Amino acid sequence: MKTTIKKAILPAAGLGTRFLPATKASPKEMMPIVDKPLIQYAVEESISCGIEEFIIITGKNKRAIEDHFDSAYELEEKLKSTGKNKLLEEINKLSHVNFAYIRQKVALGLGHAILCAKPFVDNEPFAVILSDDVIDPEYPLLKEMIKIYEKKKCPVIALEEVPMSEVNRYGIVDGKPEDGVYRIRDMVEKPRPEKSPSNLAIIGRYILTPDIFGILEKQKPGAGGEIQLTDALKRLVKKTPIYGYLIKGKRYDAGDKIGYLKATVDLALKNRELSGDFKKYLIEKAKTLR
Ligand code: G1P
Repeated sequence: MKTTIKKAILPAAGLGTRFLPATKASPKEMMPIVDKPLIQYAVEESISCGIEEFIIITGKNKRAIEDHFDSAYELEEKLKSTGKNKLLEEINKLSHVNFAYIRQKVALGLGHAILCAKPFVDNEPFAVILSDDVIDPEYPLLKEMIKIYEKKKCPVIALEEVPMSEVNRYGIVDGKPEDGVYRIRDMVEKPRPEKSPSNLAIIGRYILTPDIFGILEKQKPGAGGEIQLTDALKRLVKKTPIYGYLIKGKRYDAGDKIGYLKATVDLALKNRELSGDFKKYLIEKAKTLR
C-alpha cells in the first residue's frame, strides 16, 4: 500500500514503572503477548498500513530492542541446520525493514521523545505509535487514520471513549463531531474526572505534521513534570485544525496489568496453534470461578 505516511516514531524510552520488577533491567516494549514483544505488534501493524521506516526512541536498558530487530547469525545458523524453517522465517520476517535508533538521554516525557526524532523526520508528516496500546492485528486503524489525513491534510489522533473514572490516565479531548470525525477544540493531559472536558481519550496512534516540533522545542513540563505531547497539540490546535478519529476496533492498554492480561487471552485465542487447547482450559477454569 502506497501512502503519504512513510515514517513512524516509536517512543520506547519510558521507565515502565507499572510493570516493575519485570521492567527493572529489560524494556517493557519487549514484554511478550503470546510469542511476540509488544513493539513487534506495533511494527507489524504499521507495515501492514504502508509505513516503511521506523525511528525508535530508546533509553537506558533498552538494548534488547535493537538486538530484537537485528539479524541473529548464530541463531539463524542453528535453525537452518536443524531444519526449523518456520521459526527461521518468523525471526527473519522483518529483516528488510529500516530501523533508526535515537537515545533519549533523560526520560523527560513523550513530547520530548518525539522531539528527539526531529532530525530524522525531514519535512514530512509521520505517525507516532505507542506500543503499549495494542490494536487488534485484524483492525487497520492506521490505514483509516491515514485516509483522513490524506483528505484533511491536518494532524489526526485516535480516540476512544473511556469510563469517566479512568480519564486521569489519558490525554482527553474536547471535540465537536464533524463529517464522521471529531474536530478537536482543546485537550488536556490526565485531568481529574471532575475537570475533564469529556471521556474521549487519546489512544497511542497519531498522524502528525512537522510543525509540532517547533512547539515541542518551547514546551514547558506539564503533568507529572514531563514534556507532554498533549500540551504541544493543545497549542497547535489554536493555529491549525486537528481531527480525532474514534476507533472502531479493539484496543488493549497493555501498559496496564489487566489490559495486558486481556490482550494475552484474546490474542492466544486467535492463535491457530494455541486456540483449541487454551479455549478448553479457559472453559474448565471458568467453571471453578464465581
Ligand atoms: C500517553 C499520552 C496520553 C495518551 C496515552 C495513550 O500517556 O501522554 O495523552 O492518552 O499515552 O496511551 P502515557 O500512557 O504514556 O502515560
